[in-house]
Amino acid sequence: MKQFKMLINASDKIGHINPEIYGHFSEHLGRCIYNGIYVGEDSKIPNIHGIRKDVVEAFKNIKMPVLRWPGGCFADEYHWKDGIGDKAQRKKMINTNWGGVVEDNSFGTHEFFELCELVGCEPYIAGNVGSGTVQELSEWVEYMTFDGVSPMAELRGKNGREKPWKLKYLGIGNENWGCGGNMRPEFYADVYKQFQSFCKNYSGNDLFKIACGPSGDDYNWTEVMMKNVKDYHMKGLSLHFYYVPDWNNKGFATEFDENDYYTILSTANRIETLIKGHTEIMNRYDPENKIGLIVDEWGCWYDVEKGTNPGFLYQQNTMRDAIVAALSLNIFNRHSKRVIMANLAQVVNVLQAVILTDGEKMLLTPTYHVFDLYKEHQNGDCVYCYTDNENLCDGKNVPMISSSASVKDGVMTITLANASLNDEAEISCDICNFDAKEVTARILADDVHAYNDFDAPENVKIKPYTATLENGKLKVNLPACSVVEITLK
Ligand code: AHR
Repeated sequence: MKQFKMLINASDKIGHINPEIYGHFSEHLGRCIYNGIYVGEDSKIPNIHGIRKDVVEAFKNIKMPVLRWPGGCFADEYHWKDGIGDKAQRKKMINTNWGGVVEDNSFGTHEFFELCELVGCEPYIAGNVGSGTVQELSEWVEYMTFDGVSPMAELRGKNGREKPWKLKYLGIGNENWGCGGNMRPEFYADVYKQFQSFCKNYSGNDLFKIACGPSGDDYNWTEVMMKNVKDYHMKGLSLHFYYVPDWNNKGFATEFDENDYYTILSTANRIETLIKGHTEIMNRYDPENKIGLIVDEWGCWYDVEKGTNPGFLYQQNTMRDAIVAALSLNIFNRHSKRVIMANLAQVVNVLQAVILTDGEKMLLTPTYHVFDLYKEHQNGDCVYCYTDNENLCDGKNVPMISSSASVKDGVMTITLANASLNDEAEISCDICNFDAKEVTARILADDVHAYNDFDAPENVKIKPYTATLENGKLKVNLPACSVVEITLK
């Protein structure tokens, strides 16, 4: 048992946790949309207009605040007009990025907005800049949001939707430094300005435009964008970072040793260095924090499960992923002054998914349970939280304890993870400037290799837990490899 001192000061507010930090990402990739979210109206799997009911309920339970769609790399080859109107007539295309499979466009704009309405989350559309035209994106915005007489509003009405939708988040392309067109930042900055000029605010709709930002530590990209584009309605700049120590040898989700585990954690912790680096640049151009950093793709990326299509990026999800998610979300909370949205890649059946499906079966992964444990942070004020920590692995950045705390409506939520595989942690935490009378806790703890599969879908699950509070001191023990949520009232 190792002992740690912590201090939380409720009067020291370091940011506001935008709910969108708990956002997700869905792409036309493998079984994310088709089979994962959408099964079609004729399916025997319970559905609402083709959208799986079980998945919608699971999304609602974690209070999913925002869903990004349709990609990813797919977004820059997606032509939205192929995905509207009579499904039998919709064009079939090749999904060139992901397995070369046939995309029948049966899940399109109307289906996506219905999904968001069912879940109660904000839609986040990633527009096609790489292979689309300015007119095409401009018309998509008109189709989605214009309330009046116009060609696109008329077309929408013909397709059964008189009333426009509200669209807040609009991405102007995706990874335009890579699959979205291999552009230089200077070139993309101009392209961004051109495309965004024709994406109008119709009928009281106010677009929150998100420019393609850097990959990992490409600080020059951020510098160029902030210098050239900040006055062109850019409200968000995206950042993509996958936790892959070696792209040539990613390893399997369930097969790893202690060294692999600490290596992934150290890589995941790099997200904090990257956020600080990009924030520093953004602070110089935007000291008032008007432009948010949007980590709209993050998470673990392993080799696909044996026997599955390599283009489908299907991987299992263990307690290792839960620890990674827990420390990442604590980092996003602590940097919520600048980080205003984050979208885990991806929501169902792809990469670090929160849900896996197999026909009519569905399971919640350990990562899902972390989103469940953390959901009360949404809309809270992030407050100062210090831990007298220790590093677990020489030469790697792996603090044993990860933490964040927030206050909302007189309730404090504290989330802690113990990354050690061997040692329990005894935490003694001073709570300052907060009058708590009651404490409750929940825990996710298991062997680091533990996961849920379709034969044992509840192998890893949240359990009630105990923490105590005496004279303003919170005491809790964190077992090795665990994530804990504590609520103080
Ligand atoms: O999430 C998988 C892919 O990773 C996305 O399509 C792309 O944006 C990124 O490179």
